[in-house]
Amino acid sequence: MRRLGSLGIFALLLVVVAILMGGGYGAHQLTINNHFCAACHAYEKTSWDQSEHRQVDCIECHTKGFAYDKLQGTRKVWLTVTGQINPHNDPLPRYPEDTTENCVDCHITDAIAEEQPFFIARHNRYMEHAATCMACHDSGHDRQLQRMKRP
Ligand code: HEC
Ligand code: HEC
Ligand code: HEC
Ligand code: HEC
Repeated sequence: MRRLGSLGIFALLLVVVAILMGGGYGAHQLTINNHFCAACHAYEKTSWDQSEHRQVDCIECHTKGFAYDKLQGTRKVWLTVTGQINPHNDPLPRYPEDTTENCVDCHITDAIAEEQPFFIARHNRYMEHAATCMACHDSGHDRQLQRMKRP
């Protein structure tokens, strides 16, 4: 949040300009594409290709809602092109709670509760003791590569 402020306003302007330029829908489709993410996150893309989740788009685990994604995305492009962050090498922030919300949306649903009540009951119990799904499950990204980016 600290870096928002003037950068945030700039990011918002960029988004507005992109939409005004008629790129709205097309730009949206481009920026949720896995290959777009891979341009800056090649390592994560490589391990994801081998993971259980390779049919799940990056954005489905990493979204925090349309508006936030677009603002944050524009800010990330800015940080990258101005050389402030190299997403391939620099440590990146993590939001495991937000990711967990997205895991829940797919895996802990009413439909699954009907089919597999015991799976859901066990998981409700697990979640009383764990802050996030990642306490027990892998993201599917290569942990060693992730660790190399830790300071
Ligand atoms: C132009 C380069 C670029 C592109 C394209 C890009 N990112 Fe990022 N990404 C970054 C940068 C820079 C950061 C670090 C942002 C920060 O420090 O706040 C980052 C951080 C992240 C993080 C960790 C922090 C967080 O917000 O959870 C995730 C996850 C992530 N990106 C996923 C994605 C996904 C998914 C896509 C495609 C929809 C994507 N990125 C596209 C540059 C990029
Ligand atoms: C099954 C859900 C899932 C999918 C699909 C997924 N990720 Fe992730 N990703 C995670 C989780 C979980 C973390 C780590 C968060 C944590 O544990 O703190 C993470 C972390 C990241 C980070 C932060 C890396 C760091 O340095 O810590 C980036 C960048 C990222 N993912 C990009 C991507 C990209 C690009 C794709 C698609 C090619 C993708 N992710 C697909 C779940 C996913
Ligand atoms: C968009 C929906 C979606 C999201 C979001 C998602 N998953 Fe999945 N997950 C799937 C699919 C599809 C599979 C493939 C196996 C299957 O058919 O169940 C899978 C597989 C799995 C498996 C292995 C199941 C098996 O059969 O071995 C685990 C564990 C898992 N996910 C946990 C998570 C966690 C933890 C997160 C959050 C980081 C997450 N998932 C996010 C859809 C999703
Ligand atoms: C305390 C550890 C723990 C936590 C936290 C946890 N799980 Fe699990 N998960 C397990 C274990 C153990 C299994 C296999 C036995 C079972 O089904 O209970 C499992 C199984 C699964 C499976 C099915 C895998 C398969 O082989 O069919 C999915 C999907 C899954 N978990 C998703 C999640 C999601 C999403 C979260 C977060 C909301 C989560 N788990 C949190 C321990 C955990």
